[in-house]
Amino acid sequence: MYNPGKIITILVLFVLLITAPILLNIGKASEPPAPSLDTAAIEQLDEKQCIESKEFMRTHHPQLLSDWRQQAVREGETEYISSSGAAWEMSLENNCLQCHSNRSEFCDSCHTYTAVELYCWDCHDGTKGAGAAK
Ligand code: HEC
Ligand code: HEC
Ligand code: HEC
Repeated sequence: MYNPGKIITILVLFVLLITAPILLNIGKASEPPAPSLDTAAIEQLDEKQCIESKEFMRTHHPQLLSDWRQQAVREGETEYISSSGAAWEMSLENNCLQCHSNRSEFCDSCHTYTAVELYCWDCHDGTKGAGAAK
């Protein structure tokens, strides 16, 4: 006999069976990175902020660093004025790595995840402190 209840039960079981591998995998598939902000310099900040908004930094830091490099090395310009009006030195080691001194837990946690390999560290070895490229 035609039994809607039974058909629905079978359908539900069927859908569960098909999707089980996907459902069971949720949370297991490579976790998105959680860049650590746990450094002494950031700990000391009154306002836990980057040089620009978090959203801007997330999307634009490669371009920003590329511009800085160009301006600092080729044009001898060393000061960056952020959108809030604060002045910052255009430098990888004397700027970014002063706060983000935990390079591997911060920068590289994202880069490894997205398979970006930074050759910057060949010369700017942040582990040696400011100005190591000199
Ligand atoms: C082959 C070595 C080398 C590599 C690789 C390299 N740099 Fe540099 N970089 C230098 C040197 C040398 C200077 C000049 C340092 C100075 O005058 O204080 C410099 C200066 C800079 C500056 C401006 C001044 C400063 O002290 O930071 C920035 C910003 C910069 N590099 C960013 C980068 C970024 C970003 C990368 C990777 C995409 C990179 N560099 C890769 C050698 C290198
Ligand atoms: C004065 C300390 C300081 C300096 C200098 C600094 N940062 Fe930050 N950065 C922070 C803090 C604090 C946060 C977290 C901001 C928030 O949560 O709103 C952050 C956030 C970020 C983020 C976003 C991380 C995320 O989870 O999405 C990126 C990317 C970043 N910084 C890159 C850089 C780069 C590249 C430089 C150098 C050009 C730099 N920062 C310089 C303190 C700093
Ligand atoms: C929230 C994640 C995240 C954090 C934190 C982060 N990056 Fe990145 N970074 C990326 C992604 C994603 C790319 C690739 C972007 C693209 O190709 O457009 C990238 C690209 C770059 C590039 C350009 C590389 C290339 O070869 O084009 C540089 C330079 C760079 N990051 C420097 C840094 C530095 C220095 C820090 C730490 C101070 C840092 N990033 C922290 C996600 C991050």
